[in-house]
Amino acid sequence: MTEIPVADLTEDQAKAELARLAMEIAYHDRAYHQHDAPEITDAEYDALRRRNAAIEARFPALVRSDSPTNRVGGAPDTGFAKLRHRVPMLSLDNAFDAEEFAEFCARARRFLGWTEALAFVAEPKIDGLSINLTYENGVFVRGATRGDGTEGEDVTANLRTMRDAIPQRLNGPAPASIEIRGEVFMTKADFLALNEAQAAAEHKLFANPRNAAAGGLRQLDSRVTATRRLSLFAYAMGESSEPVAETHAGYLKRLRGWGFAVNPLSRRLKTENEAAAFQAEMGARRAGLPYDIDGVVYKIDDLALQRRLGFVGRAPRWAIAWKFPAEQATTVLNDIRIQVGRTGALTPVAELEPVNVGGVLVARATLHNEDEIARKDLRIGDTVVVQRAGDVIPQIVSVVLDKPRGAEPYKYPDICPACGSHAVRPPGEAVRRCTGGLICPAQRVERLIHFVSRNAFDIDGLGEKTIQEFYAEGWLRGPADLFHLPEREAEIAEREGWGKLSASNLSRAIRARRVIALERFIFALGIRRIGESNAKLLARHYGSYANWRAQMLAATTIGSDERLALGSILGIGPAIAEELADFFGEPRNRGALDELAAELTIEDAARAEAADSPVAGKTVVFTGTLETMTRPEAKARAESLGAKVTDSVSKKTDIVVVGADAGSKARKAAELGVKTVTEAEWRELVGG
Ligand code: IVH
Repeated sequence: MTEIPVADLTEDQAKAELARLAMEIAYHDRAYHQHDAPEITDAEYDALRRRNAAIEARFPALVRSDSPTNRVGGAPDTGFAKLRHRVPMLSLDNAFDAEEFAEFCARARRFLGWTEALAFVAEPKIDGLSINLTYENGVFVRGATRGDGTEGEDVTANLRTMRDAIPQRLNGPAPASIEIRGEVFMTKADFLALNEAQAAAEHKLFANPRNAAAGGLRQLDSRVTATRRLSLFAYAMGESSEPVAETHAGYLKRLRGWGFAVNPLSRRLKTENEAAAFQAEMGARRAGLPYDIDGVVYKIDDLALQRRLGFVGRAPRWAIAWKFPAEQATTVLNDIRIQVGRTGALTPVAELEPVNVGGVLVARATLHNEDEIARKDLRIGDTVVVQRAGDVIPQIVSVVLDKPRGAEPYKYPDICPACGSHAVRPPGEAVRRCTGGLICPAQRVERLIHFVSRNAFDIDGLGEKTIQEFYAEGWLRGPADLFHLPEREAEIAEREGWGKLSASNLSRAIRARRVIALERFIFALGIRRIGESNAKLLARHYGSYANWRAQMLAATTIGSDERLALGSILGIGPAIAEELADFFGEPRNRGALDELAAELTIEDAARAEAADSPVAGKTVVFTGTLETMTRPEAKARAESLGAKVTDSVSKKTDIVVVGADAGSKARKAAELGVKTVTEAEWRELVGG
């Protein structure tokens, strides 16, 4: 099933979608920027952000305080101080063919009223990460990543380790103050060697040279950066206290003179007509270059013209990146493997007969999701076209239909390959997910990190890194094991970075959390879409853990109409009711939940509304057909107000709500003298 179009979303759905997107985008931001290990392609990531923005545009009142729109993907996060660039670091517009390049030139000409030849400097475009280096009186004083373009991360200490690439002092005369910009990257050979070393040490592999370079530069420990072989080509200028050249070519020459590497393939083109030939030449040389390039940047050479042209939006009018078409090859689809991500998402990965695509050996490709396999009718054994686009993660473009086809249409699994729990796909969503969050090995570490986080169990001294280490030791299979860590106190004290005091503090922090509020407990479980506010709603509604568990278990057996009602009564929406039912529907989760609850004292929550409601403590029976609500909805609402709802009328019954065509129960109420009310009267009583 495809996603619900934004135009068709109800307000409730929109709200749930925004919550989901905020979580997912934040997750992928972390994967990309903090772990330098993206799990989805740039295009998929952009699609998530676009959907989020479109929903926000339609429902401005629903924009969340943690909306991804307010955060730029590359915005600085933990660990590094922020540094503001004196002149913003911009990006470039793209052209994909000669026609688009010609349009770019025509626009610049119109803007300038220029009829003479336009000279350019052409520079191969390396996909690394841009940095801004500040020199004062010729001495390197600080350097920052691009970040969101306005401010980046202060990575000065790390840049200082790049002795060969970054002059600590500029050769010869230089302005009193100047910002110099360039691209930090990793060569193909250094990238491969790094990944081999990572594999040998059983560390995670980098997806591409760009992520490896970013990972190297964004190390909190600059000794690690020093071991990564990072390169730099300088190519641009930020602020300068005095002019340094009249042309870009002249500026590149000064950069060389100061001691920077400038890409030796850069070339001055006397007119724009030389661009196509240069583009073709670079395209032909591309596979043989020691680093990946994804296009050529063309910059108008005359700096006075650059100044006149200025910027539009986030890109200059005087430069453009002419991208190469994606590199393609054909090969055989050997298998489709299902990976389980840390959020439980099942993602299909194509296992390919290894093939050379533009100089890189490709053995795997992303398949995005279940629908894509169906849409392309991919079958194991098919011959397929693969391409590497801007993203290094290769994609499957299509099936080569005149080659022999694989025999059977592919059947997507509905069982998690990592843990055997059932994997479900909520209506309107593209992704199928494992429901066995608490026990699934693919998700455990992520779940544990969430479990101990501030608004959940809030265990001091248990950070992400410690969880990972303890997990690797085999000490933490699930959350219940956390409460057995104090038994390992002596062992923990012996570990590097620990000691008797910190180990005993940890034990104390863990023991202190054996008593926990119901809402924190529910939130800590990390059930999809159950954030803090929904956890609170649930806790207030159900009051006790035992009641919540029993009612949720009952909800797994009810039909989808009733789940819908459950969602609406709780004010949490049907999608969340579905998630709860899915979670409790998985026996493995119930097992893990019971194991965990056995370790804890879970405090009851103050029940919402119940105390001052006119039906609190009353026993209520519904009979006949209700017009304005379903039976489960009526029951849930009554219970949330503290009433007890039963099926049969007795002397103990306080109120019988009589709907249309009521039969024997209404008669029995009359016989016993039990109070009866109509549906309308009931609604009035409980406040609508
Ligand atoms: S100039 C205002 N020159 O491409 C112009 N950028 O898509 C700013 N890049 O963020 C950039 N090679 O990371 C420029 N020779 C080159 C480049 C280059 C690679 C990257 C850079 C920039 C991105 C823009």
